[in-house]
Amino acid sequence: MSGARRIWLTGASSGIGAALAEQLLADGMRLVLSARRVEPLQALAARYPEQVLVLAGDLSDPAQVREIGEQIGQQWGALDGAILNAGTCEYIDAQHFEAAMVERVLRANLLSAAYCIEAALPLLRTGEKPHLVGVASSVTFLPLPRAEAYGASKAGLRYLLQALRIDLAAEGIDVTVVSPGFVDTPLTQQNDFAMPMSWSAEKAARHIAKRLEKRPSEIAFPGPFISILKLLASLPMHLQLALGKRIARSEQNTTDSKDAR
Ligand SMILES: NC(=O)c1ccc[n+]([C@@H]2O[C@H](COP(=O)([O-])OP(=O)(O)OC[C@H]3O[C@@H](n4cnc5c(N)ncnc54)[C@H](OP(=O)(O)O)[C@@H]3O)[C@@H](O)[C@H]2O)c1
Repeated sequence: MSGARRIWLTGASSGIGAALAEQLLADGMRLVLSARRVEPLQALAARYPEQVLVLAGDLSDPAQVREIGEQIGQQWGALDGAILNAGTCEYIDAQHFEAAMVERVLRANLLSAAYCIEAALPLLRTGEKPHLVGVASSVTFLPLPRAEAYGASKAGLRYLLQALRIDLAAEGIDVTVVSPGFVDTPLTQQNDFAMPMSWSAEKAARHIAKRLEKRPSEIAFPGPFISILKLLASLPMHLQLALGKRIARSEQNTTDSKDAR
């Protein structure tokens, strides 16, 4: 296994992260896998004992992330890549706006990424062709109803990574932002609205793994969905508002008709 790239992949216990772990392991990479649920990570380790190091933990707890970073340092000495994919989604009900929920989502999606970056950077600095990757979301291209907390966390993550890209360039650390559209995972299976152009987690993982080889600054997909979001975001604000109200109404109708069943 010497010479295989050494990657820390977070959120590998389900959805996009689990599918990406399968793909990268099949491609021969060595992975540190992190998430709170240890069983799915151990199942991968049992199948790829030479390639997988399981370091489970709650990434929204800075002490646990620091401990994971120290373990990687002791066991591997360096990282060639970190793919920060762990995340969550909760939707706001503006009638009962809850700041605690915003805090929860920011902690899960933005602060946890910051803790992981702090732990990963010293290890990436001693790695080969280091690459830092963060999974944001296509929601960052267009404000959508009920996505206040989720969108804020992912927009924050986008800015964090884009600014870091500038500051890390001199050290030769590349930074990629991944912006998925809808992907069919346990996270989105809870959604009560239509998810146009949804991809399977396996298709998303194949796409991300292939594109990562070229180390682009952005991996956004599916292309047509992203183009539509960017087009809508370029409309005058009153048209964006009218459209947003329409989406909110149709989501409400879907919820009401599901509740009536
Ligand atoms: N699915 C989509 O349509 C979509 C679209 C755009 C962006 N994304 C982003 O893609 C990423 C993966 O999402 P997914 O759809 O694959 O969701 P998922 O199936 O729910 O997977 C989320 C992963 O994150 C881990 N995680 C969450 N909170 C964690 C914490 N505090 N500490 C450690 N691990 C944590 C979960 O593991 P444990 O529960 O075991 O801790 C799980 O492995 C997320 O960042 C999400 O925002 C998804």
